[in-house]
Amino acid sequence: MGAAPRERRRAAGGLCPAPGGPEAGMGAAGPGGRPRAVLLGLLLVVLVVVPGRGLDNGLARTPPMGWLAWERFRCNVDCRADPRHCISEVLFFEMADRLAEDGWRELGYEYVNIDDCWSAKQRDAEGRLVPDPERFPRGIKALADYVHARGLKLGIYGDLGTLTCGGYPGTTLDRVEQDAQTFAEWGVDMLKLDGCYSSGEEQAKGYPEMTRALNATGRPIVYSCSWPAYQGGLPPKVNYTLLATICNLWRNYGDIQDSWDSVLSIVDWFFANQDVLQPAAGPGHWNDPDMLIIGNFGLSYEQSRSQMALWTIMAAPLLMSTDLRTIAPSAKEILQNRLMIQINQDPLGIQGRRIIKEKSRIEVFLRPLSRAASALVFFSRRTDMPYRYTTSLAKLGFPEKAVYEVQDVYSGKTISGLKAGDNFTVVVNPSGVVMWYLYPTALREQPWRFDQQQAPHGGARPLLL
Ligand SMILES: *[C@@H]1O[C@H](CO)[C@@H](O)[C@H](O)[C@H]1NC(C)=O
Ligand SMILES: *[C@@H]1O[C@H](CO)[C@@H](O)[C@H](O)[C@H]1NC(C)=O
Repeated sequence: MGAAPRERRRAAGGLCPAPGGPEAGMGAAGPGGRPRAVLLGLLLVVLVVVPGRGLDNGLARTPPMGWLAWERFRCNVDCRADPRHCISEVLFFEMADRLAEDGWRELGYEYVNIDDCWSAKQRDAEGRLVPDPERFPRGIKALADYVHARGLKLGIYGDLGTLTCGGYPGTTLDRVEQDAQTFAEWGVDMLKLDGCYSSGEEQAKGYPEMTRALNATGRPIVYSCSWPAYQGGLPPKVNYTLLATICNLWRNYGDIQDSWDSVLSIVDWFFANQDVLQPAAGPGHWNDPDMLIIGNFGLSYEQSRSQMALWTIMAAPLLMSTDLRTIAPSAKEILQNRLMIQINQDPLGIQGRRIIKEKSRIEVFLRPLSRAASALVFFSRRTDMPYRYTTSLAKLGFPEKAVYEVQDVYSGKTISGLKAGDNFTVVVNPSGVVMWYLYPTALREQPWRFDQQQAPHGGARPLLL
């Protein structure tokens, strides 16, 4: 996505929703009946919605994980002045090296994704997209080969419209098939299709047309659509039932920026609209609240932990946009938290919900997981000091007679035999979270185990209580 041009375009044409709308006050529930109803509702959603729904390309059965250039590196094409940070093949070769060598790939971070500003300003004589010859001298195919040789996958960016947001050649309706073919021939594994410089009618035609065109190439390509973000992200303009049959993931809302305000505006919008958005997600079709900005400049340590926890509750794709060559150990530790990733990648793929908004400005989020497990996040919007929040699992809607084993996702501390009726206290730091993984004691054996399929390189280590 091209930031400055897109901002101008949005301002001028009103294509995109302005980010940062105020909290609409939905999703609140006092302790008591509502969370129970939410749990039951989530179970019904699983039964009714998951089988057979969604784009039938067999891809993205769990939220995609990897790295995406945009938020950190934008449309920096000045490789003379800034060779290390400009959009060039060197950046992607180096990020692939880091993903492969620094423990990321083993945890599931497998996509190396190019965003806007990779192409030449003109198509070639046959009308094909071509990469900028100075910044990508070896071409996209060579980059794909390099990435594949390291056990990773390559993502690319296109835009349904006359121009990309950054002003590069776009994919007009008559180019959809040709561009899908080009991407497939290069060995691309994921396509993010933006929506600058196209009308609502063109988008309604073009996004499904690209689904067909990608399918016709015969190459499995994960398809990320920006379509709903250009239509305000909500019904009646957005039909999420339809969208799930067209795209593997979709951007619902405005671009993330490197700030806590931006993260909060996204969190506010997604949870204010959770009744619409939560049922839309599932294996093969995900809401995408945009990239993880952990490791950059805008978030404190606590806020970084909050973004990771809340994105995991949302079953969001984990697409990091940070410089993996220089990332701080504390940020890396957050992004490489095994139990967090296991929760994010839970095979049921149920998006979580906010179940309580307390007057104390503590909010509680719940995501149901496979094998009767759950994740809970206690999030503080306070700005004073660590807050002691006392509640019980029964108050949060868990069955009255049940007993749970609890693991704190960040500290690793455990609680054994927590009865639903027992009061407990969590201490939540300002703009921070406490995150719990819980499963019924009756199961005795911990249902959580690092998924070996996802960790083909032997990095797996079961966490035992
Ligand atoms: C194309 O679609 C068919 C039927 O929906 C599906 O079985 C197949 O896997 C798809 N192929 C690709 C490459 O997406
Ligand atoms: C949304 O799309 C689905 C699938 O195409 C369709 O069955 C349904 O009627 C649509 N809903 C609305 C409100 O248009």
